[in-house]
Amino acid sequence: MKVLVVGSGGREHALCWAIAASPLCQELLCAPGNAGIAQVATCAGVAADDVGGLVELAVKEGVDFVVVGPEVALVAGLVDRLGDKGITAFGPSAEAAELEGSKGFMKDLCARFDIPTAAYACFDEPDAAKAYIHARGAPIVVKADGLAAGKGVVLCRNENEAHAAVDHIMSERAFGAAGDALVVEEFLEGEEASFFALVDGTRALPLASAQDHKAAFDGDTGPNTGGMGAYSPAPVITDEMADTVMERIVTPTIEGMAALGRPYRGVLYAGLMINADGPKVLEYNVRFGDPECQPLMLRLKSDLLEVLVACAEGRLDEAAVEWHADTALTVVMAAKGYPGPYEKGTEIKGLDALAGRDDVVVFHAGTMADGGRTLANGGRVLGVTARGATVAAAQERAYEAIDRIEWPDGFCRRDIGWRAIGR
Ligand code: AMP
Ligand code: GLY
Repeated sequence: MKVLVVGSGGREHALCWAIAASPLCQELLCAPGNAGIAQVATCAGVAADDVGGLVELAVKEGVDFVVVGPEVALVAGLVDRLGDKGITAFGPSAEAAELEGSKGFMKDLCARFDIPTAAYACFDEPDAAKAYIHARGAPIVVKADGLAAGKGVVLCRNENEAHAAVDHIMSERAFGAAGDALVVEEFLEGEEASFFALVDGTRALPLASAQDHKAAFDGDTGPNTGGMGAYSPAPVITDEMADTVMERIVTPTIEGMAALGRPYRGVLYAGLMINADGPKVLEYNVRFGDPECQPLMLRLKSDLLEVLVACAEGRLDEAAVEWHADTALTVVMAAKGYPGPYEKGTEIKGLDALAGRDDVVVFHAGTMADGGRTLANGGRVLGVTARGATVAAAQERAYEAIDRIEWPDGFCRRDIGWRAIGR
């Protein structure tokens, strides 16, 4: 089978790494890819959000199966457009991708189908939002309705901050049309975790849990990022909790989407807040998390491609997934300055010495090859991913690998996994 993976992050390197190992994969393409992906796939220079260009590439190359990494092309209908050309793709239709593409849609689905989530209201003009904020009081959370590359959520400690967030999103249009509507919701306390399940329209196959680290610096300080590290499984998601999440959250979501005529296919990523009341959904994403996908792929024993194809073809009843019992942990190395402005083109050395190990894999995100050299080419640059019998063992191995990488222009958090290790 000829496979095309769409995207260029650590998530897509991890997906390509797992797919390349499948006996079903005869040829692997990635658009646009990065220097690490180029070691296992042929990279094509088409951007991950260029729906027309990606469809053209898939048709021209005679691709049999497409795996879409990031959300933008999913929300824009890439899977639908590929389907029009008779090409099967892993990922939701545009209508189903609204689960991530519109926070108001997601909240209304939860309300209608009794799925536990924070109390909320949706607004399309600022004054009504501010009146609601005044009535509810702080702390409170203000969210742009549409896609805002992870920056559209503002946790507000007081009313002034909440009013400023409404103005920033709606009046100043900080996220463009994504802020034409907004959601104001209850601030939830608890422990966050991510839960991933494959969904084939009617059935769900639970995958695994993970915990991300969104803040830039140690001790969860500094600005929010796309994620500075993750591990899987997350100890807070016990087997019993996983059953509860499937029963109260994932299953009613799949049934609700089918009832709305928007059957969900692909990976469903539930961002959860867990406290004494049980799990609540903070957000849905319609794709694998990044970096969460990286530890997931290192733990996966089964043939990823076989499972993704079964999912996309509506045959999840024939699929099963097996995992290594170990924990896997990813530490992200980012360019100094990230998530603010940073330099590109700085050289990274020492990666060759880590090649060929099966307990440590360095997934690439923003990298490019320059002859024999590897250069940084983005904010998040590497995902150093290690397996170990415990979170502490995986953490030690990941940092031991990081200490062999020579990249003075990069930084990482030194405490990935602290919550699990401190339990
Ligand atoms: P989201 O993109 O909706 O996941 O929001 C980004 C981050 O904001 C989440 O990972 C949480 O850390 C935080 N967050 C979102 N909604 C809430 C909420 N209702 N209460 C507390 N924290 C929240
Ligand atoms: N790591 C968070 C995300 O992928 O949305």
